[in-house]
Amino acid sequence: MSANSFDMRAATWDDDPAKVERAETVALAIRDALPLDRTMRVLEYGAGTGLVAQSLRDSVGPITMADTSAGMRDVIGEKIAAGVFTDARVWDVDLGAEPAPDEEFDLIVTVMAMHHIPDLDTVLANFAQLLVPGGRVAIVDLEKEDGSFHGHGFDGHHGFDPAELGSQLAAAGFADVAFQRCHQIVRDGATYPIFLATAIRR
Ligand SMILES: C[S@@+](CC[C@H](N)C(=O)[O-])C[C@H]1O[C@@H](n2cnc3c(N)ncnc32)[C@H](O)[C@@H]1O
Repeated sequence: MSANSFDMRAATWDDDPAKVERAETVALAIRDALPLDRTMRVLEYGAGTGLVAQSLRDSVGPITMADTSAGMRDVIGEKIAAGVFTDARVWDVDLGAEPAPDEEFDLIVTVMAMHHIPDLDTVLANFAQLLVPGGRVAIVDLEKEDGSFHGHGFDGHHGFDPAELGSQLAAAGFADVAFQRCHQIVRDGATYPIFLATAIRR
């Protein structure tokens, strides 16, 4: 699934009630798992149309939404212009392929984006660089699956194994890694569990 295919889906992304419900459910899990406050500078990475940020906006401070799809960024831009967010901006950055901008965040959230990014270690290292010491990361994504979620030809990750992802987070500079199951997606009769992993920047 290329960034281009997300471009084509961006304008109607929010029309799918399952995507809206997923965003609300995972935002609730993040709010329950982490001590959020209105001073926290948040990066949502692979933000899509910003649905998760919308569900978190009243619990945190300024929000930066990053996505490599121009179509998704356009939708976020329209929401910012319409006043959906009071303090937000949109970034065009690929942390799997380019260095992290010289900025600081207190929390990085990413939902259903990491399995699309081949070079996970580079992204995690960039997350660590962008976070202040003691800052948090919240990763929501697929548990290990048999490849049927995206089907033939998908070149991303077929979900993640908690032990493996935990080791990668530790190697990138994170501590206190915790996993919980926070949602599930039913697609073509199959059920795909979704995890929330949280960790603290050392
Ligand atoms: C399945 S969508 C999830 C969107 C949103 N987080 C949500 O839950 O509705 C995955 C998103 O990741 C973005 N994406 C894919 N590769 C990316 C990368 N290397 N860097 C940043 N965003 C990426 C896509 O453009 C898409 O918007």
